[in-house]
Amino acid sequence: MKRIIIAIDGYSSTGKSTMAKQLAKALDYIYVDTGAMYRAITLFAIENDLIGPAGFKKSTLIGELPNLNLEFKYNASLGFSEMYLNGRHVEKEIRTLEVSQFVSQVSVVPEVREKMVALQKAMGKNKGLVMDGRDIGTVVFPEAELKIFMTASPDIRATRRYKELLDRGADISFEEVLENVQARDYIDSHRKFSPLKKAEDAVVLDNSKLNQDEQFKRALALAEEKIKE
Ligand code: DC
Repeated sequence: MKRIIIAIDGYSSTGKSTMAKQLAKALDYIYVDTGAMYRAITLFAIENDLIGPAGFKKSTLIGELPNLNLEFKYNASLGFSEMYLNGRHVEKEIRTLEVSQFVSQVSVVPEVREKMVALQKAMGKNKGLVMDGRDIGTVVFPEAELKIFMTASPDIRATRRYKELLDRGADISFEEVLENVQARDYIDSHRKFSPLKKAEDAVVLDNSKLNQDEQFKRALALAEEKIKE
């Protein structure tokens, strides 16, 4: 059967990764969470005092990029891959609000994007891939057979993210989360290099209007159509 590339882009906390994982599972494809890669570099920068409230040592981070090893390793009991930074499992550490607060600043650095995009393109060599992010349909795989752009109101997205963080035991307010969602939207869509924008040929899924299951069914039907073509 034909194997395709499915690019899923959109604003933060629109449920991209949940849908991408469901699709990958249904099609027996590989799932790649590119946000995890930008988050892992940000974690490295935080842990090495290269970024923080005192500022951002951008050129030091750029100098460290060749020594950074980012890897996805498949976790069979979860059914998807997890992020490793220089051999260390960092799935939990990269999902904190602290990383979310700095990740957009790290993601605007062209040298960071260049390294990430090269790694991501290599992962698509054999197709059979669902990749989610911000620039997958526009920059990483402009030739992807199926592109989906996910969106929802900032309030709905912040509510979802707030619940996730509370479940993980974080001590934060809804307002902080909403502010972070809005700040990231702004930086992600206004940066000079590969800003978040809908590819012309992407299908829009707005989950203020569709629930998760309806959305998944819609996406799966689109994928099956493309596979048949
Ligand atoms: O999908 P996420 O919220 O985990 O992504 C974290 C950040 O990484 C997001 O605010 C912007 C950045 N990012 C990016 O610039 N390009 C991508 N392809 C994926 C994520």
